[in-house]
Amino acid sequence: MSRQQLQGGRILVVDDEASVTGALKLILAEKGHEVKTAKSATEATAALKDRPYDLVFIDLRLPDQSGIELLTRVKMDAHETEVILMTAHGSLDVTIEAIKRGAFYYLEKPFTPEQVSALAYRALQFKAVKSENRTLKNALVDSGGDFGFIGRHPKIRQIHEVVRTAAPSDAAVLIEGESGTGKEVVATALHLASSRADRPFIRINCAALPSELIESELFGYRKGAFTGADRDKRGLIEAASGGTILLDEIAEMPTHLQTKLLRVLQERRLRRLGDEQEIGVDFRLISSTNRDTSLMIDEGALRKDLYFRISTIKIRVPPLRERPDDVMLLAAHFLRRYAEKYNKNRIRGVSQTTHELLARYDWPGNVRELESVIEHAVLFAQEDQLMPEDLPEQLHSAQAKNFRCVIPPFLTMEEIEREAIAQTLERTGGNVKKTAEMLNYHRPTLYRKLKKFGFKGGHTPQGDEAESQDADAYNVSAN
Ligand SMILES: Nc1ncnc2c1ncn2[C@@H]1O[C@H](COP(=O)(O)OP(=O)(O)OP(=O)(O)O)[C@@H](O)[C@H]1O
Ligand SMILES: [Mg+2]
Repeated sequence: MSRQQLQGGRILVVDDEASVTGALKLILAEKGHEVKTAKSATEATAALKDRPYDLVFIDLRLPDQSGIELLTRVKMDAHETEVILMTAHGSLDVTIEAIKRGAFYYLEKPFTPEQVSALAYRALQFKAVKSENRTLKNALVDSGGDFGFIGRHPKIRQIHEVVRTAAPSDAAVLIEGESGTGKEVVATALHLASSRADRPFIRINCAALPSELIESELFGYRKGAFTGADRDKRGLIEAASGGTILLDEIAEMPTHLQTKLLRVLQERRLRRLGDEQEIGVDFRLISSTNRDTSLMIDEGALRKDLYFRISTIKIRVPPLRERPDDVMLLAAHFLRRYAEKYNKNRIRGVSQTTHELLARYDWPGNVRELESVIEHAVLFAQEDQLMPEDLPEQLHSAQAKNFRCVIPPFLTMEEIEREAIAQTLERTGGNVKKTAEMLNYHRPTLYRKLKKFGFKGGHTPQGDEAESQDADAYNVSAN
């Protein structure tokens, strides 16, 4: 509903007193709203199932249920619908409870027609603004097409596509990937691009919580359920009402809880610890893990039936080393971010050598590591480019270890060695001393090899006299 349509809201009035429903219908219909009435919670529930309403007036005392219960149900089934609770004068506790459960406001009986129409107007306006915000947010999320999940590698583009397609559905998504690859970014994108965007997004890290705590955090408890439970507490699943839950490291959850979670997923109902009654819950589940799920199933750490339930859609986020071209793209992104954050806007880019170091590195910590490397470099940068010395230690020490080059097939070791010498000579401008150092050869050995491979240069000294030959220039191309 847009703001232009404010005049024509669809309103349901629930009260067993005909005088009240009649009066409200008259007042609201006169303002151009379409008004239906119901005498009980049962009747109201049926009406709400039938078609959606923008606003529901609910009397606190209904013959078959409390108004609070009906309110809770309405917000659960259709959280977009606004609810105004009608109460008797002075019932402050109830009013607070109602607001906590998502009521827009309350209306004290007896009321004047002006109060009713003003309140209805504000509730409908509120609803319209909320849905406009959501549309705006969706547009923003769509605009870049990357949902803030940066990357051009085909596998990343494919993830963008999956997010676009899967987000609007309620399908359970399992995100797999090494630590720091951006699983949480993907999960957030899924939430923001879904119709649940204006509802809570709740993250639970199962690996970080002791198992007893996971249970009470997730499912909530009744007062007295265990020592220390001195009051009723809603669990996170309940708190997510209408939103999304991200379960991080789901296989760290003890198996009996996995069974319990599976039941909640199947039945969409749960029981707080120590409670007899079940309550309906509405949430979308996203799980993530940085471990191999098939291995975890084999080991018995992850229940197979739960696995099938949580992985309707599976997304595998590739490690950074599998998408080398994205390194520079992400580096540029983080450079902009941190240059701004630390007020170092003169930093425009990275030097050629820095670029090489970043490109060669293996990124065991993935994007998280890259982000912190760039933050570090920005903090230390003195010039208008990030220089190699701005980079943290690991980039300097690890480069040789992690460097891989592709060697064409069918080459002999001798041919490889010859090529290595030729290229190094080229780099050093034919300087034998430097070439020996770079290749870690004893200099006489290098001379021997130069001779063997037929490189042409100055005379080839023997043994340790080589010291005097520093400036020997070798012609690389000669054979
Ligand atoms: N493609 C990306 N674009 C932009 N930022 C990213 C991207 N991938 C990761 N990041 C950033 O890298 C950091 C780590 O990402 P995130 O927390 O999502 O990783 P994760 O896979 O959930 O890691 P873990 O398994 O350790 O929980 C975050 O600061 C995130 O914003
Ligand atoms: Mg994470």
